[in-house]
Amino acid sequence: MTNAASPRRIRVDLAGRAYDILVGPGLIDRAGELSRPLLAAPKVVIVSDDTVAPLYADRLAASFAAAGVAASLATVPAGEGSKDFAAFGRLMNELLDRRPDRRTTLVALGGGVVGDLTGFAAAVLLRGVDFIQVPTTLLAQVDSSVGGKTGINTRHGKNLVGAFYQPRLVLADTDVLDTLPRRELLAGYAEVAKYGLIDDPGFFDWCEANGTALLAGDAARRTHAIEQSCLAKARIVAADERETADLRALLNLGHTFGHALEAETGFGADLLHGEAVGTGMALAFDLSARLGLCPPADAERVRLHLGDVGLPLRLRAIGGDNRRAWDSGRLIDHMRGDKKAEDGRLTFVLARGIGGAFVSRDVDEATLRRLLDDAIAA
Ligand code: NAD
Ligand code: GLY
Repeated sequence: MTNAASPRRIRVDLAGRAYDILVGPGLIDRAGELSRPLLAAPKVVIVSDDTVAPLYADRLAASFAAAGVAASLATVPAGEGSKDFAAFGRLMNELLDRRPDRRTTLVALGGGVVGDLTGFAAAVLLRGVDFIQVPTTLLAQVDSSVGGKTGINTRHGKNLVGAFYQPRLVLADTDVLDTLPRRELLAGYAEVAKYGLIDDPGFFDWCEANGTALLAGDAARRTHAIEQSCLAKARIVAADERETADLRALLNLGHTFGHALEAETGFGADLLHGEAVGTGMALAFDLSARLGLCPPADAERVRLHLGDVGLPLRLRAIGGDNRRAWDSGRLIDHMRGDKKAEDGRLTFVLARGIGGAFVSRDVDEATLRRLLDDAIAA
């Protein structure tokens, strides 16, 4: 569906590297016209995955052609496996086969996997070429395409090799969410609600009132949610791009728990990243309540809303496998191995209430263990 209405424009205000996020319908068909003024030369390589490319790559390439930009396509297999070293090496060689120069721009068309991979490829191809993000999952539109964290996975863990490397432009076409599987949409919604929980209680109220309609496909609510999320992320990234001031770290709400759950489930289809963040946020609020930091009613509200929209919050429901042998000690070990842990000290984002998130490095481990044991038993 094409719509020439003006997209919403959000500026990521980084000195010398500021860029716009455009949010709205029909942007894939306008990508050439919208990005042409930013291109160092009229040639791009679109990187996509083999699920998204058949859906949208032709239209994206046609919009570049209409703007006088030569576009070719490199496709990687869909899924997290494309963020490993071998897949990254194959992509780099494929890009080099096309004889790019430093004025070639890469265009990431896909979810967070394609965005992280392409962004890192752009950071190191010929020591750095420009890139544009065209995120196609809700998670990528509200989180991963914004802020310049790029990278790949190693056998030591996820996203351990990478770079802070900002895109020149982000085009979030809200129409593409129509083809996104509901489970992926829901996983992305956890990241939307996260912005309310971090520091915007009014936005969490909005999520409670509108989340179900948004997930059912209401276009205006989708656009509002993506715009608000990008505004929040742009503000945080502009203030603490490299996560040195305990501000960008707030975006990791739910991630210490979530990462441990993902590690235990093998970072696979049993638990999507956004689902892990949703469960992790509920646990972070439960922990905050147990530590006497947060009103128990707020923790209850978080659990209720995330559960109501359909996120799987009970550990025994994960993967549909009631017999998964969760173990609190193993989960805590995963937390210690997390890159957020400093000198073995666990780092959590806790909350004094909805919208009152803060970074904590002195969580009592016995309380944490009891919380996990109770969550496993629930
Ligand atoms: P993803 O990229 O694997 O996409 C999920 C699935 O949806 C894939 O199978 C994909 O092919 C398919 N898909 C994408 N768009 C579609 C569309 N419009 N229609 C139909 N199918 C579509 O997963 P994701 O959840 O977008 O991203 C997860 C990745 O993002 C992880 O690797 C995570 O580490 C990373 N991430 C990065 C950041 C960051 O700041 N850089 C933040 C959060 C997550
Ligand atoms: N997704 C966390 C960050 O961008 O910092």
